[in-house]
Amino acid sequence: GQNIIVRDLADKLGVNASQIITKLIGLGVMANQNQNIDADTAAIVADEFGKTLVVEDEKSDVDDIFDLDHEDNPKDLRQRPPVVTVMGHVDHGKTSLLDAIRQTKVTVSEAGGITQHIGAYSVNVDDKKVVFLDTPGHEAFTSMRARGASITDIAILVVAADDGVMPQTIEAISHAKAAEVPIIVAINKIDKPTANIDRIKQELVENDLLPEDWGGETITVPVSARDKTGIDELLEMILLVAEMQELKANPNRNAVGTIVEAQLDKGMGPMATVLVQKGTLKVGDMVVSGTSSGRIRAMFDDKGKRVKKVGPSMPVVILGLSEVPNAGDLLYVADNEKIARNYAQRKKEQLREEQLKSRSKVSLEDLFEKI
Ligand code: GTP
Ligand code: MG
Repeated sequence: GQNIIVRDLADKLGVNASQIITKLIGLGVMANQNQNIDADTAAIVADEFGKTLVVEDEKSDVDDIFDLDHEDNPKDLRQRPPVVTVMGHVDHGKTSLLDAIRQTKVTVSEAGGITQHIGAYSVNVDDKKVVFLDTPGHEAFTSMRARGASITDIAILVVAADDGVMPQTIEAISHAKAAEVPIIVAINKIDKPTANIDRIKQELVENDLLPEDWGGETITVPVSARDKTGIDELLEMILLVAEMQELKANPNRNAVGTIVEAQLDKGMGPMATVLVQKGTLKVGDMVVSGTSSGRIRAMFDDKGKRVKKVGPSMPVVILGLSEVPNAGDLLYVADNEKIARNYAQRKKEQLREEQLKSRSKVSLEDLFEKI
């Protein structure tokens, strides 16, 4: 939900930030005055000062143009592929597992073998498509893992059998649970002599994931990305879970998607990987994303092949945006150029206002904080 900066909350309530911070400590929340707290916590704090907090949603008026909550008619819904996000602690083998699934080698081309971005790939399993998102395990990438969890239908939690449940494993579990996404645990690196599957299961239990074969509901699959063992079983489980979800979307409407990755290419300009969530995205569509807008000049699938249109759940790289959007930004198709440019302009103004607001709020406390 909505977040509020501690300092802004203090302003709203007409008290000192330090008073808010004291109340927060009382609630077991450690935050400085520049940090965000969620609306629920803010409401509790406000209550302690005898006030009721109204948090206005600043985004909605701009995003309203695109009728985001537009409910599709059930008869227009069609089956769509599941979006599966691979999560887990750094170096536990997420990218290697995806490689094993795709039978290709992506890891070797990555700088230092560390995943710097979310890769998105579609894979054919039997006659069905499954879309995979790769996330980095490095601790600096919390927001990317959170984003991955929110656009995903199933989370594959990779846990190295020789290492066990680690901080980013626990964080991935909490993101998946918060997004109410079913978790399938891939216990990886079982080829290693020090692998201990039962120990991993014990650690999963300690984190509220009771394995199926221990009487619980969490599917666990022992795999080795290196030896490509257990991969078929894992894919089978993914299809099984996906089937129970009855995933659907309306392919016949203006597309809405999410940017999973974006960068500036020297030759081609802004490039963005979009995961289409509803509708069909087409070359020639007028799109907006954050403060960026433009007409789609070309699209490429995950194999680098040019495509003209792409439907729900599918990842695609697009060219034609005016600037590089942020990963996590929504992407909409606008009916015409005027609407698109208007939206991007209003987003820019909104951003500028937010920056000005935060700059004009330098207080005595801010000065002390920096000493
Ligand atoms: P980040 O993206 O940096 O978080 O790492 P990752 O989880 O994607 O791990 P990655 O696939 O890059 O693998 C990390 C290391 O573990 C590499 O050296 C892999 O070769 C090795 N590895 C991955 N899977 C296996 C496996 O099944 N067995 C063995 N023995 N090694 C593996
Ligand atoms: Mg990786």
